[in-house]
Amino acid sequence: MSELSVKHLLGIKYLNEKDIQLIFETADHFKEVINRSIKKVPSLRDITIANVFFENSTRTKLSFELAEKRLSADVINFSAGQSSVKKGETLIDTVNNILAMKVDMLVMRHPNPGAGIFLSKHVNAAIINAGDGAHEHPTQALLDSYSIREKLGDVAGKNVVIVGDILHSRVALSNIFALKLQGANVKVCGPKTLLPKHIASLGVEVETNLRKALNWCDVANMLRIQNERLDISYFPSTREYTQQFGVNKALLNSLDKEIVIMHPGPINRGVEITSDVADSKQSIILNQVENGVAIRMAVIYLLASKIK
Ligand code: CP
Repeated sequence: MSELSVKHLLGIKYLNEKDIQLIFETADHFKEVINRSIKKVPSLRDITIANVFFENSTRTKLSFELAEKRLSADVINFSAGQSSVKKGETLIDTVNNILAMKVDMLVMRHPNPGAGIFLSKHVNAAIINAGDGAHEHPTQALLDSYSIREKLGDVAGKNVVIVGDILHSRVALSNIFALKLQGANVKVCGPKTLLPKHIASLGVEVETNLRKALNWCDVANMLRIQNERLDISYFPSTREYTQQFGVNKALLNSLDKEIVIMHPGPINRGVEITSDVADSKQSIILNQVENGVAIRMAVIYLLASKIK
């Protein structure tokens, strides 16, 4: 049987192309399962998973929990805000106390880049990175590529532009790694102040003219301005950002071809995309969310098979 090349999912950077294909084939199976009337399989009845979230989340937290329950794992949830972290307990102490309750796998979101990598060296459990600061968000990139594959048949050879705050975006970095591994052509587009200086070294092109970028692409992945990570002003005002880098229906309709619109959520409606774009038939935003459950089931299932 095929297996992943890794024991943890810490970032797309640590995967190879075969890992991604294995995750997608496994997700195909689980997508079929979750569309049945009985949406559950007994695969992980002997596994206990802790969802440890030090940062807010709607989609990632809920879809991991649902994925775990659909696989029949035992699940516990931890939110830093209601925990003894507030009394000064360290990350390692917190996690080791959770693991002492016979937990096999940890899904962690943390504001610090590299938190999952650090933890994987100090604790004895499989770790899935559910977003670490501005570093990586691997399951988001997997579900994004899976959604492109579902919509367009393949990821290889497709032109994908990632628009917005590339500098602070873990979604952008994980997507770049995933798309390049699968043979897509990738451009980034946004204000120069929100594009990392060495971004070209990742094999992507920079385009600061949104209309040109959209006319080139098959898929536009529209990112949110991450106000919670902006220490200074990177553009004059939100209105000017939207004028230059926002997509509205008039712009979409004026392009040379029909493109696919993606967004990882949460959306700032009227900033990076207008509501009539987010809710249009060109948008696959809710398909991305739906696919998140199957992708996370696949990742958990494949990692669990390595700890059994
Ligand atoms: N896309 C994403 O990570 O959304 P949440 O922050 O709601 O989990």
